[in-house]
Amino acid sequence: MKLVIIGGTGLIGSKLVGKLREHGHQAVPASPDTGVNTLTGQGLAEALAGAAVVVDVSNSPSFEAAAVLSFFETSTRNLLAAEAAAGVGHHVALSVVGTERLTESGYFRAKIAQESLIRSSSVPYSIVHATQFFEFIKSIADAATVGGTVRLAPVLIQPMAADDVAKAVERVAVGSPLNGTVEVAGPQQFRLDELIREGLRARHDAREVVSDPEARYFGAKLAERTLLPGDGARIGETRFEAWLDQALVATR
Ligand SMILES: NC(=O)c1ccc[n+]([C@@H]2O[C@H](COP(=O)([O-])OP(=O)(O)OC[C@H]3O[C@@H](n4cnc5c(N)ncnc54)[C@H](OP(=O)(O)O)[C@@H]3O)[C@@H](O)[C@H]2O)c1
Repeated sequence: MKLVIIGGTGLIGSKLVGKLREHGHQAVPASPDTGVNTLTGQGLAEALAGAAVVVDVSNSPSFEAAAVLSFFETSTRNLLAAEAAAGVGHHVALSVVGTERLTESGYFRAKIAQESLIRSSSVPYSIVHATQFFEFIKSIADAATVGGTVRLAPVLIQPMAADDVAKAVERVAVGSPLNGTVEVAGPQQFRLDELIREGLRARHDAREVVSDPEARYFGAKLAERTLLPGDGARIGETRFEAWLDQALVATR
């Protein structure tokens, strides 16, 4: 089966391409790096020829509100039109658990726009909502840093390893379209401020993490359970301590 992976050179995309190939599928990574640009349409029709499935795990180079909205709207429109023309039978997209609750954030308004374009298109689809990746801890800290101090709300979070996200997306991509959303999450819950404190400590990052219930997450106020999945989420197997050990070995 031919699957085209939009963003197939990124963190999740490259893992997904590897897993699909291991399992005997024809997985084609598509991104500006491989000559395919979903914003301009360059290379898209050629890449999609003969594809049964398109998986979109791309991300916007900028998280600024107007830029990220323009990225996901333009890219998703171009992609769905090219899929309809090529007769692609399944569009799979990766999004974030709680997206619909994070409307105060420019980034998440862009993900909401992406998802509604997918739902209203004629192409059968599946949306995978994943929780925050362990690999994203430093980016969360960077976005929450003001004057050298990280300010985060002590709310619940159930993060997961990027490898488990790729596994979950693979399972959905080789299955039938859900025409709905499935949630995936990690095996443990943490407090957001404590998770980031521990993650930074492990990286020998000296920034102080201050617990602040009013602190915003990419522009949005968080309630206790905003970032948690609902009942019935699929659970990845990798625990945070095991991932940290592995990540630290890889950087030695
Ligand atoms: N971070 C989290 O904790 C989290 C949690 C849940 C869901 N997600 C979602 O996961 C998805 C993937 O995230 P990631 O961290 O794996 O992304 P990433 O590593 O930043 O990779 C982004 C990919 O998008 C590609 N791309 C950028 N502009 C493009 C364009 N114009 N046309 C085609 N491809 C383009 C990049 O290609 P080049 O390499 O060629 O530039 C790259 O392959 C995102 O949609 C995000 O919302 C993230």
